[in-house]
Amino acid sequence: MNFTTAQAIFEKAEGNRSGLPPWTYNNPELTDLETNEVFLKNWIWLGHISDIPSSGDYKCFDIGHERAVVIRGASGAIKAFNNLCSHRGSRVVEGEKGHCGKSMICPFHGWTYDLDGGLKTIPKSSTFPEIDQSQLGLKPMDCEVWHGLIFIRFGGEGESIANIFNEAEAEIGLYNIEKMQPMNESWRLEYDLDWKSVLDIDNEGYHVPIGHPELFDLVGATYKDEVLECGLSRSYGNFENRKFKKPLIKSYVETLPESSYLPKSHQSAWIYWGMFPGIVITLFPDSIEVYQVYPTGYHKSVMAGAGYALEDDRPAMQKARELNREINSSVGEEDSNLVKWSAEGMRSSAFEGAMMSDLELGIGAFQNQLRKLLPVVKQNQPPTPGTISQVNQTLLDERT
Ligand code: FES
Ligand SMILES: [Fe+2]
Repeated sequence: MNFTTAQAIFEKAEGNRSGLPPWTYNNPELTDLETNEVFLKNWIWLGHISDIPSSGDYKCFDIGHERAVVIRGASGAIKAFNNLCSHRGSRVVEGEKGHCGKSMICPFHGWTYDLDGGLKTIPKSSTFPEIDQSQLGLKPMDCEVWHGLIFIRFGGEGESIANIFNEAEAEIGLYNIEKMQPMNESWRLEYDLDWKSVLDIDNEGYHVPIGHPELFDLVGATYKDEVLECGLSRSYGNFENRKFKKPLIKSYVETLPESSYLPKSHQSAWIYWGMFPGIVITLFPDSIEVYQVYPTGYHKSVMAGAGYALEDDRPAMQKARELNREINSSVGEEDSNLVKWSAEGMRSSAFEGAMMSDLELGIGAFQNQLRKLLPVVKQNQPPTPGTISQVNQTLLDERT
């Protein structure tokens, strides 16, 4: 794989190891700009094909002022639409997920759409002037299913998910993700913090030895974070032939049965593939987990995900999966505290910026990507209120 170095990453940031200026974590206008320019123009992970197994099953996703529905059609194909009625803009389907039978019926006045988004019927249609129903279907959105994972995009014109993940393809392809099923209900953590604070901790493993005693016991010094030239990141740890101190870790490793479809090298590996802005695909020998971080407002963000696994009724595998979840929920709790403390620090007048080590290259790479899209975040002080988008556009125009 084509890895890049910490030096190259920090050089791209003109030697800046202090991170983004603190105002960028505390500015409501920037949060709006990030939502519109980063999240609404990049891929968002929505779930797995097994979350919507039957025709008429759907899943929704809201971000900023936008909302999407992904639905399985009569032919079994999965499509995404703006969840927005062409009549007066109501949600056409509601809730996080559900089943709508053979059509989507708007709960406001009953306009009815087929599962391919076409407008089928309008109640009291004679009261409308002559309209072309074929032009009033739900608006389609980009939707891509890759290894069973569903991604959507509200706008923007970047590469396909398959292209973005090209360098991860060989490894992710080992796990038969498209054959997996959900393990539990999906999970969602809400933070009263800027989304970048939540991601910063996730983008570096320098904190693992101190911040995550159990995870560190599992993978120890084998843990490493790598950033690829293409912009993906990969974190890797291996527990083969290691000695463990923590009972939970000992028990996980001793319980874990063989997963014969995986090569030996991956039967004892925990691997995290990250994609800008905030999607992570975690590969365990017993299961996978996918999650993402995104803003839901000023100083409001969400980390949400779900676990999937192949059918396997061996009791040892069931037990190993439970133990895995225990390890990962302590990692999550530990991160929650650390995230809060560092975000609070950034609001202090005494905070003068970070001092990042080579081991924090993942944060450096993430921030380089953000600077590329939103050059306004390079400024040491926030622009005058009301001007941020315009200042950012001017900086983008100057670049071309
Ligand atoms: S808003 Fe949907 S039918 Fe009126
Ligand atoms: Fe962590």
